[in-house]
Amino acid sequence: MRFPKTRLRRLRKGKNVRRLTRDVSLSKDDFLYPIFVKEGIEEKREIEGLPGQFHYPLDGLEEVLSECEELGIPGALLFGIPREKDEKGSEAFDSEGIVQRAGKKIKKSSKLTLFTDTCLCQYTSHGHCGVLSDEGLDNDESLKILKKVAISQAEAGADYVSPSAMLDGQVKSIREGLDKEGYGSVGIMSYSAKFNSSFYGPFRAAAESAPKKIEGPSKLDGRKTYQMSYRASDQPLREISLDIKEGADIVMVKPALPYLDIIKRASESFDIPISAYQVSGEYAMIKETSRSGLIDERDAFLESLVSIKRSGANFIITYAALDVARWLDES
Ligand code: PBG
Repeated sequence: MRFPKTRLRRLRKGKNVRRLTRDVSLSKDDFLYPIFVKEGIEEKREIEGLPGQFHYPLDGLEEVLSECEELGIPGALLFGIPREKDEKGSEAFDSEGIVQRAGKKIKKSSKLTLFTDTCLCQYTSHGHCGVLSDEGLDNDESLKILKKVAISQAEAGADYVSPSAMLDGQVKSIREGLDKEGYGSVGIMSYSAKFNSSFYGPFRAAAESAPKKIEGPSKLDGRKTYQMSYRASDQPLREISLDIKEGADIVMVKPALPYLDIIKRASESFDIPISAYQVSGEYAMIKETSRSGLIDERDAFLESLVSIKRSGANFIITYAALDVARWLDES
């Protein structure tokens, strides 16, 4: 039946019918909140490129943990910023490292599900996600270290370790390591489809993890030899499929908004929970534009997060989680 009998506006004529007929939901069940814990600070400090987000000292975590719990956020993704860095990122697997100490504290003082970012770039002096050789990033040597990082995080209480280095075989190697050490119940959320993106800019400033230019024969060009090109549309699906075979429990697409097509394809192709990371640049763009009044912050966050859900993500890692949870309570 066509116009004038079919009039879709009948479905939009009042708030209640709009509520009844919408079919994409967004709730606090959908959010994982990133938390930055930094060594060597006394008080929480606002992160310059991420307005409303903070670096927390180890002793200042309670505040944000209880905020998450009171708002009903299911979990946190923990990032550490160590005082000392070296060539192989030793602080990343130190049992007394900042993330390991924070993990123990979080598990003791909160019921949040704890995800830990499992990577080396915040911990290496050169800012790359693994160790270097003349050939560039040495994949298999780096796997040995990432495995140690994952085990130390599991030991500290991580419920899920989250490898984000985009190295080949990282999920397999971590799974084997965890199982061997008796951490069979610790899960893996893999940053499976992680693109080499300019949208990580504010995070790298916040985490002091921008890759340095390496002189000499090493074949490195930013993170292009390990993170995926945004011109590749089938590779992310191969990456996800391999990670599933290697034992991932949850796979991630990152960033989110510029890659909704990938989230959609992944959700149609695989029966596994898919997370999407609304990354620092996506967050900062909305924050900055709303500051000048050009867009409404609340509407823009809700719209972008619902789009990410609509494309098929099961949940979203977002810096806006706490604000959005509050807005959802109010509406
Ligand atoms: C570490 C890591 C990065 C992000 C999450 N984990 C940075 C990078 O790959 O350079 C980015 C998150 C964000 O931008 O919010 N490998």
